[in-house]
Amino acid sequence: MYRVVDLITKKRDGERLTKDEINFIINGYVDGSIPDYQVSALLMAIYYNPLDDNEIWALTDAMLKSGEQIDLSKITGIKVDKHSTGGVGDKTSLVIGPIVAAAGVKIAKMSGRGLGHTGGTLDKLESIPGCTIEIDGKDFIKQVNEIGLAIIGQTANITPADKKLYALRDVTATVDSIGLIASSIMSKKLASGADHIVLDVKVGSGAFMKNLEEATTLAETMVKIGKNVGRETVAVMTDMEQPLGNAVGNSLEVIEAIETLKGNGPKDFTELCKVLASEILLIAKIAKDVKEAETIVDDIIRSGKGLEKLKEMISYQHGNPEVINDYSLFKQASEEIELIYLDEEDAYVDHIDALMIGEAAMNLGAGRATKEDVVDHSVGIVLHKKVGDKVSKNDSLATIYANDLGVEVASNMVMEAYQMSKKPTSTPKVILKIVR
Ligand code: URA
Repeated sequence: MYRVVDLITKKRDGERLTKDEINFIINGYVDGSIPDYQVSALLMAIYYNPLDDNEIWALTDAMLKSGEQIDLSKITGIKVDKHSTGGVGDKTSLVIGPIVAAAGVKIAKMSGRGLGHTGGTLDKLESIPGCTIEIDGKDFIKQVNEIGLAIIGQTANITPADKKLYALRDVTATVDSIGLIASSIMSKKLASGADHIVLDVKVGSGAFMKNLEEATTLAETMVKIGKNVGRETVAVMTDMEQPLGNAVGNSLEVIEAIETLKGNGPKDFTELCKVLASEILLIAKIAKDVKEAETIVDDIIRSGKGLEKLKEMISYQHGNPEVINDYSLFKQASEEIELIYLDEEDAYVDHIDALMIGEAAMNLGAGRATKEDVVDHSVGIVLHKKVGDKVSKNDSLATIYANDLGVEVASNMVMEAYQMSKKPTSTPKVILKIVR
């Protein structure tokens, strides 16, 4: 038995906590015997005296074991999970899942809902008429065995320690700690049961990690945690200085995902999907090198097999698969507003503040300010100009899709998010680095 105050003192003074001490804190926090105020103080001590590798592993393991661990052993084949650290316009799961499932990988994915400026895959799926993400464990396993792919809401009570700790970090300014982020993400991924994990670590103003150096440390930390338990883990660091692709908002993003599976996706988004899908094929040993993986991915898109797989998943999850060919089946927004560039002089897009675009979409009702908010699936923003593009008078920068709510605020935010330069700017790289 320990005294919590001694453990806080130890960490405050830069000493290391042992595995037993970390288990004691996590177990006590979950069962309510250790109060928020002591854990808050400990989190702040950790913020200033970062966790080392042994502490990070002990914390990951303690959080992983705080709840249920999903057993995917009844699914035949290699199961791979993909996780993004959260961005604006990130609909990659809807494209990558079908592509790699068409190549023979098993994707049994539990996704989350959107909160704040970042969207969630579940909300996007629910914008498809009839589509459900509430599937019980047995049907989930059956679906993955039959078609290779299911994306559902979390059914089991996984990592309750992380849920409690994350909520506390959110209100104590202790989210931004690499050891805490790495253990939070990896405890959830390990509890979700996949054999291997591909991580998309977002870097830039719209992401937790603001620069490549921090992101690399986070990526290396998570890859090491995965290896520790024999789950091969790869982290792809990707740009989040501007929104990903063009569409931000639930049904708009699903439409963009469908277009990408038809081979007509935006360049940056398509490239990211192809790289992540290729990494999954490599980790699942379906391809022996990057070149072969990319060829398989290209063939799946070109042949329409990826699109067919998405259609199959929508049908299995009770959605209307006809949305793939008829976008009018999605609930439609009542207003479309073009945001026009009015300056006489030509300019080039220098930066688009992803955070501000995400918040503008949230103001329209596409996202949640609090967990209880109801999402409007039909609203959002489609960007027509991205960083590096030339803009002339009367060009539309973006279209706002709205239903009365927040139109003016969102329009102002989107205009403000665009920063122009009179000199030509370059298109940023999407893939910044890969840590294997
Ligand atoms: N996402 C998580 O799941 N946890 C963190 O700590 C940060 C991002």
